Parts: sequence; structure tokens; C-alpha cells
Amino acid sequence: MSTGEHIHPIFDQLLQRRDKEDLLKQRAVVLWLTGLSGSGKSTIAKGLEKRLHQDGFFTQVLDGDNIRSGISNNLSFSPEDRQENIRRISEVAKLFLDAGTVTICSFVSPTEAIRQVAADIIGEQFHEVYINAPLSVCEDRDVKGLYQKARAGEIKQFTGIDAPFEAPPSPAYEIRTHETTIEEGVEGLYQFVKPLISWKV
Ligand code: ADX
Repeated sequence: MSTGEHIHPIFDQLLQRRDKEDLLKQRAVVLWLTGLSGSGKSTIAKGLEKRLHQDGFFTQVLDGDNIRSGISNNLSFSPEDRQENIRRISEVAKLFLDAGTVTICSFVSPTEAIRQVAADIIGEQFHEVYINAPLSVCEDRDVKGLYQKARAGEIKQFTGIDAPFEAPPSPAYEIRTHETTIEEGVEGLYQFVKPLISWKV
């Protein structure tokens, strides 16, 4: 797919991200939470958003299960569809970024190549956060009962079971959710992000 020859984007005529950020008195970033299903991505995203909101930051969470019930509801979990899912989300995240929003994306995004798609679309404000818990822990938690179904062969191409998960080798931040409490994880990530989003004239 490419930009059609009859499409004339007007990005350069619009107010810029800086204008929106100055109005909101914050700097915008995209925090990209990657990790296995059940690693705690949504929990950390929710907690972080609440913490940021209480502190006066304007935020938006984009979360796998939400997105897959809306703009990505025609996509499967094949490698190609996962990549298309991440491409769409990244374009949406970029719109929020350009609107000055602290944007928290929570997606399995299982491979280096897929996360690179996100990094390339979003640009320098992309910050990769690895929500790390061993497969055995995620499987024990099995919050949604999906691992049991995947082991029984009822769900195919399940990440960690019969589809790959490549741990990010050098994330900007990492939370080992089997070794910390949710509160500690959220607080650590909050301390990481705060200097990035604090408004300076
Ligand atoms: S991604 O691989 O394309 O980034 P995404 O984060 O949108 O995945 O969706 C993952 C969520 O979909 C999981 O948390 C889980 O609830 C659900 N899911 C259903 N089927 C699968 C599958 N085969 N692999 C991974 N997650 C699945």
C-alpha cells in the first residue's frame, strides 16, 4: 500500500506538536509496552495513566484487546496481521503524539521486526518498555484462560506457545512484574517518564 497520487497531505499547514504541547504544558511521548499476554502490560498501563492523570498530564492508553475489538477487528494473529495491527496502532499513536498526548501503547508486539515498524512510524519519541515476566508465570496467572486453551490446541498461533516472542534486547525501561508489586512497577515507570514529559519553556 502506498500514498495515492491523488492524496495531498496538509501536515505542514497544521499547528505543530509544539503548539499543542505548550497549550497542555507537557511534552508528548509514546511509551510502547511490549510483553507476553499476562505479563501485566494492561495493568501497568492503567496504573501509569491514573498516576499521570493525577499529576496533571493529558494521556491516552491504546490497548491490544480494545484495539482488536475496533479498528483491528478484521485481523487475525498471523505474523502478517500482527504487523498490520501494529502498523495501524502506530499511526494512531502518532496522531495522539502530534496532539501533544502522553500516549501509552500496550501490545504484545512479539518480534523485533514488528516493534521496528512501530519505532519507524513513531520516530524519536518512541520509548520501548519491556513488561517482563517468564512464560511460566504468565501461564500460571492465565488471567483470561487463554494459555489453557492454547495448550489444548483450541487457540492457534498463541504467543509464547506456538508463536514466537522475542524479548527486546535493549529496552528503554524494563519492569519484571514477577519480582515487583504493581505499585512499584508503576512508580518506577512514572519516574522514568516524568523528565521526558515535563514542560520546559
Ligand atoms: S499483537 O501480537 O498483534 O501485538 P495484541 O497485543 O494486539 O497482539 O493482542 C494480544 C491480546 O489478544 C492478548 O492479550 C490476548 O488477550 C489476545 N489473543 C488472542 N489470541 C491470541 C494469540 N494467538 N496470540 C496472542 N494473543 C492473543
